Amino acid sequence: MFESKFIVLDGPDGCGKSTQARLLAEYIHLAGVEVALFRDPGSTVIGEKIREILLDTGNVAMSDRTELLLYMAARAQLYAECIVPALAQGKCVILDRWVSSTCAYQGFAGGVGVERVIDIAEHSLERVWPDVTAILDVGLETSASRMNRELDRMEQKGCDYHNKVRQGFLDFARQRKDVIIIDAHETIETVNANVIAGVEQFFKKL
Ligand code: TMP
Repeated sequence: MFESKFIVLDGPDGCGKSTQARLLAEYIHLAGVEVALFRDPGSTVIGEKIREILLDTGNVAMSDRTELLLYMAARAQLYAECIVPALAQGKCVILDRWVSSTCAYQGFAGGVGVERVIDIAEHSLERVWPDVTAILDVGLETSASRMNRELDRMEQKGCDYHNKVRQGFLDFARQRKDVIIIDAHETIETVNANVIAGVEQFFKKL
């Protein structure tokens, strides 16, 4: 079920997707399939450098379009350098964020427009859509309680922006058949069980 599958976990800051991506990777590995887990932006030398620029709180002057193009550039590198070879080797690729984030953050909350984001993605990436995307939905109160640390440039954008991000993810999920929504207010164990059940059900229906 999981060989050469491309699975994305995404959602607002503080939704717990990095933990959930790791737990899903462990589950699939125990099921006997090799897993490659990556974070977007990042997981390549070039992508990690771009990530630093994007999250640096000193870069206050960055425009929404610059932001969008940097995310897309990091992703193009990740796709070519890591995702293509992993899928070709039959591995299950799990991504911590992907194009769904750019739609919700830059497209919806940042005002660039979701259609324009998708258009740019289609011109930048050989493959835009994963097999399945699980959106971990969480409200601001819960996510804020999970982020007891110094905030990066994106996290500092404020409540209005982050409420729109959440709305952007939910809108995105409603418009696509390859997206499932998981309630991420629950405990780590419950969310993990729901992610596994959601993804398995999705693949069984295919
Ligand atoms: P992370 O900390 O979850 O890895 O993500 C880094 C930040 O970048 C997070 O605040 C979400 C944001 N982001 C975007 O704004 N657009 C994107 O396309 C991606 C992938 C992340």
